[in-house]
Amino acid sequence: MCGIFGYIGKKYDSAKIVFNGLKTLEYRGYDSWGIAAVAKKTSSSNQATIIIKKKAGKIGDANVSDLPRSTISLGHTRWATHGGVTDINAHPHLDCTGTLAIIHNGIIENYDEIKRELVDFGHRFISETDTEVAIHLIEETLKKLQKRYSATKTHDELLTEAVRKSFNRFIGSNAIIVVSAKSEVFLAAKNGSPLVVGKGDGENFLASDAHALLPYTRTVHFMEDETLVKVAKDSISLYALSSTRAKIPHFTHLSWKETVTRKGNYPHFMLKEIVEQKDIIGRIAIENNPKIATVSQAIIKSYGTYIVGCGTAAYAGLAATYIFSKIAKRHINFAVGSEFSYLLDFLSPKSLVIALSQSGETIDVLDAVKKAKEKGAKLIAMVNVMGSTLYRMADEVLLLGAGTETAVVSTKAFTAKLAYLILLASKIAGYEDEGRNALKKAALVLRRIFEPDSTRNIRRLVDTIYRKEHLYVIGRGISYPLALETALKIKEASYIHAEGFAAGELKHGVIALIEKGTPCIAYLANDETYGANLAGAMEMKARGGYIIGVSYKPHEVFDYYIPVDDVGIATSIPAVTIGQLLGYYLAVKRGLDPDKPRNLAKSVTVK
Ligand code: AGP
Ligand code: GLU
Repeated sequence: MCGIFGYIGKKYDSAKIVFNGLKTLEYRGYDSWGIAAVAKKTSSSNQATIIIKKKAGKIGDANVSDLPRSTISLGHTRWATHGGVTDINAHPHLDCTGTLAIIHNGIIENYDEIKRELVDFGHRFISETDTEVAIHLIEETLKKLQKRYSATKTHDELLTEAVRKSFNRFIGSNAIIVVSAKSEVFLAAKNGSPLVVGKGDGENFLASDAHALLPYTRTVHFMEDETLVKVAKDSISLYALSSTRAKIPHFTHLSWKETVTRKGNYPHFMLKEIVEQKDIIGRIAIENNPKIATVSQAIIKSYGTYIVGCGTAAYAGLAATYIFSKIAKRHINFAVGSEFSYLLDFLSPKSLVIALSQSGETIDVLDAVKKAKEKGAKLIAMVNVMGSTLYRMADEVLLLGAGTETAVVSTKAFTAKLAYLILLASKIAGYEDEGRNALKKAALVLRRIFEPDSTRNIRRLVDTIYRKEHLYVIGRGISYPLALETALKIKEASYIHAEGFAAGELKHGVIALIEKGTPCIAYLANDETYGANLAGAMEMKARGGYIIGVSYKPHEVFDYYIPVDDVGIATSIPAVTIGQLLGYYLAVKRGLDPDKPRNLAKSVTVK
């Protein structure tokens, strides 16, 4: 949940290079940002110094022209876990001497115990973060090593050992980068959080993900867990954290095209990505993707298939249970990523785990699939980001191909998952062509939803409900996960408290929430759930609810009607798009930024 970027090399505008890198990584967390530049020795000072610029808030139109010319710089965009969103808690953090700086992704679960020790040694802390504890521990450890070995070992050797010993004390998933004013290297260590090394010509880089490196190098090494790397401008040395044993870096040449995503004529990435769905679904409907056969065969051969995902990806996983039951008459298990680790004791080498993830970096999914693999289960990833951690862990990958999803609020990755799940189930049932035809029709319905009269209809509804603080969404069958996903879109984009429910649950307590004028969105699909769902809408109406019907036909119980043509189970794709547009327009009407909602980040890499 943070963006990390480091440069060491021959260019003196390293602070600017790092700053540009942070801008491409800001989707990973934007509570604050900061850069540390190592300013060379000058005639007046016989010691290089570390100059830091850091601010709470998004990067926006800030600049770093006031940072010194330097060939070594580190940068960080933060998603706060320990300590509020303040300038002081922003990274980088310094040690007592001001000659060591650190940036960090993750959570040091035992930071408090270490901090108490360091306070007893006289260390002074100015921030509330766990990260600052790390740099003071490195300082203390280096001091002790220097007392014993400074006569026989260099500063770099001692600093490397201090970083290694300190990092090994941390409990939790972490990645750190450390720089010293007294040396011309970076030290980075990783266990859990992502870190990629970029190799250049007389310059080297570190970043949280490989895409940020593309403007500078395509030769990258994806750091494995339990690894420490020492990066100089012309060398990259890997070591095992546990034994200091040298490790060989395996460099990959990235052939990806540099997808510089721009909003174009759209006011926000979220709207652009919602509209892109009509083309993405249309492409999936007709493409000849060999992975459909591979993955469907793996499902058929497995002794139990388990789908896991978080947030929006979790709702796609829940939708899969309905899709595979309805189309392939097959039972698929589903669990949210953070719970799956507690449910997988039954897994065996004959089990198949399908992990759904846009980013491929969600820690709760990665932890779950790591444990599943330890039990011998086969892992298939349905992921949108090539080269992501999940992408590299999987035995098989079905790339969603939805293109870079920049808005934190996920949209096109969700419907791409639905489309592939419908195709996979259709393939298993022997009706692949029918599946493709249903997706083609869904793409056409999507086009109609984006027509002016349709979007005007949705915006008129938004004008009616945008001041409401509570909103409910009901569905049955596959419309139930759609209700959950719609509520999530509205929650995270507009901050309205929206909740999705299985319509059948209304009378088991939920209906107590309905007051006069409470907006209630009811998904009424043209299937066996229609009648019962309508009854739910009636019951909410009878208690004053303002009923918003999303359906293939109007009904007198609706106070507001949003049409969506029926294309069978694939109707779920255009139907949920209405929910996405509601979330988007509600956010805009409430003066919010749907691309970067408060407290969120695009990929959740900390627990
Ligand atoms: C989606 O709108 C949310 N931002 C969030 O729930 C997201 O779906 C979740 O964190 C999972 O992310 P992933 O698909 O990248 O694994
Ligand atoms: N735990 C650190 C902090 O709260 C790092 C959070 C992150 O990964 O952005 O500052």
